Amino acid sequence: MKIYDNPLRGSGIGADVPMARGVLRTVARPVRTMLAACPVHAETPLLDQTDLSGMLGIGALRIKDERQRMGLGSFKALGGAYAVACAVKARAEALLGRAVYAEELTSDNVKAVVGNLHVICASAGNHGLSVAAGARVFGVKASIYLSGSVPEAFAERLRGIGATVVRAGEIYEESMAAAEAASRDEGMLISDSTWPGYVDPALVVLEGYTVLAAEIAEAMDPPSHIFLQAGVGGMASAVAATLRDAWGAGPKIVVVEPDAAACLLDGVKAGGPVTAVGPVSNMGRLDCKDPSHVALEYLAREADAFVTISDVEADAAVARLAEAGLESSPSGAAGLAALMTCGEAERAALGLSAESCVLTVMSEGAV
Ligand SMILES: Cc1ncc(COP(=O)(O)O)c(C=O)c1O
Repeated sequence: MKIYDNPLRGSGIGADVPMARGVLRTVARPVRTMLAACPVHAETPLLDQTDLSGMLGIGALRIKDERQRMGLGSFKALGGAYAVACAVKARAEALLGRAVYAEELTSDNVKAVVGNLHVICASAGNHGLSVAAGARVFGVKASIYLSGSVPEAFAERLRGIGATVVRAGEIYEESMAAAEAASRDEGMLISDSTWPGYVDPALVVLEGYTVLAAEIAEAMDPPSHIFLQAGVGGMASAVAATLRDAWGAGPKIVVVEPDAAACLLDGVKAGGPVTAVGPVSNMGRLDCKDPSHVALEYLAREADAFVTISDVEADAAVARLAEAGLESSPSGAAGLAALMTCGEAERAALGLSAESCVLTVMSEGAV
């Protein structure tokens, strides 16, 4: 494990990021209004792990448990499906020439006018499931691009909910390029990442994620530390933005990445987005070599530290957590894995003590 204190904390990399302007501040409310119309939506648990916190020598450990979110198995359920809902709403309003309310989105009237909408994304698994689930609910077509590294179990689940699965390339970035190319002629790209020239649909995905942080902020007092695992950085930035808004600068935000794909850390070091170099990681959903530029700009300003962990460290934590009855994957438990990997030097570097209260997110169950 390696720790890098963020030298850009407070200043960032100088860009005027949408999140930094406060766009994400109040969005949890409209997302929740939309979610209220969804029969499978329910708040997820915030676990209080006293045994584990004792073993780890900290005062308290709170885990936001996203393993059952909307029956899709990860927090990603909140983002892609919400972005599809917003796309359906916008198209229906344009075609019907009037406002369309959340409760109407699944009506036959709306389905009849938006039926030819085609949503497309690349995914390491969970984002695709969310987009596909949204497409099924609203009666539109979904094509999900998966690289060869995504387990077939995800492909089967995607087909099971009516999506077309396209295998493209060997790594996530190749599937992303294929999805982007297909979207130019065939449909609307709903990515969970951003890059120059592509921000809006992805920001809507991030708006969906703010709900998990809003639920946390309502359920507990500010912790001393927040450990957030990151792939492109969408979850970490949406959660950090919402919790900074609720709790201010006090909690120390620690972003955790696989050492094989430390694109946010590399971006902070370089002062702008760069492509990380590394082998394939066992933290599959975090194995993104290019950051979301919006997430990078936000986290460069708001994260206190960036931490990288190895595949071996992630695996060891997953095994220990399973013994404690918390089944997850190396991606889902990466935030916890960083905490569990800390020795004395790392605890000192991160300011962890017997008084610390650590919050983290278990972002998916065992795969
Ligand atoms: C389970 C899980 N955890 C964490 C992440 C990382 O999220 P992000 O790519 O928004 O940083 C993902 C991304 O797919 C995921 O599926």
